[in-house]
Amino acid sequence: MKFFLDSAKIDEIREAYSTFGIDGITTNPNHIMNSGKPFYTVIKELADFVKENGLEGYEKFPVSVEINPHFDNVDEMLAMARKISAMCKNFVIKIPCTPSGITAARLLEKEGIRTNLTLVFSPSQALIAAKNGSLFVSPFIGWKEQSGEDCAAYIADIVDIYKNYGYYGKTEIICAAVRTGKQIVDCAVAGADIVTAGLQVYKDSMYHPFTDLGLERFQNAWDKTITEE
Ligand code: E4P
Repeated sequence: MKFFLDSAKIDEIREAYSTFGIDGITTNPNHIMNSGKPFYTVIKELADFVKENGLEGYEKFPVSVEINPHFDNVDEMLAMARKISAMCKNFVIKIPCTPSGITAARLLEKEGIRTNLTLVFSPSQALIAAKNGSLFVSPFIGWKEQSGEDCAAYIADIVDIYKNYGYYGKTEIICAAVRTGKQIVDCAVAGADIVTAGLQVYKDSMYHPFTDLGLERFQNAWDKTITEE
């Protein structure tokens, strides 16, 4: 399973890459706003990051960049997507799962510009993303669980549907807005390809009190062990 970092902050991206070996990045307008920098400055930083680390190419290290969420006109969507895509081979264009977004994504995929259909909240939306050839689909987990919906079954349904129709592995499932280690495990058990989460979610999910307890126990034993000359 691949782990993507959901962030547009370059210091977090560097830390997540060096510590956890993340496999890609997802951004959204919120993350760009939280970086405190202008849109094109941020995505230029992301392009520089992939170059510095020898990660060129979306196959190696995809970086999802979302187009202006106000756009609902296909031509406007296409123009911005082409502009962003020309800046870096790693950029995958994130587009909302609306009728215009689906149309734009299909046309971009035909041009060889890879897409990530985002704001997906139902298996039927995920199915249409795959039918139209998107590289990624991003079903959101955290938002649904917050409103009391069962996300393990939601992701399992998408995996089953993709397997039924030969889309599994072609349109990769990025479980998005992941908040906990339990959700990472649920997505992994269901067979999702990728999770995307913030740095703190990964840190929290890698923590276990027994690891610290065991470490302390072994350190004590080490200190009491007879030392050789
Ligand atoms: C995924 O690609 C999105 O960027 C992300 O997970 C959105 O949700 P959040 O900002 O609530 O985490």
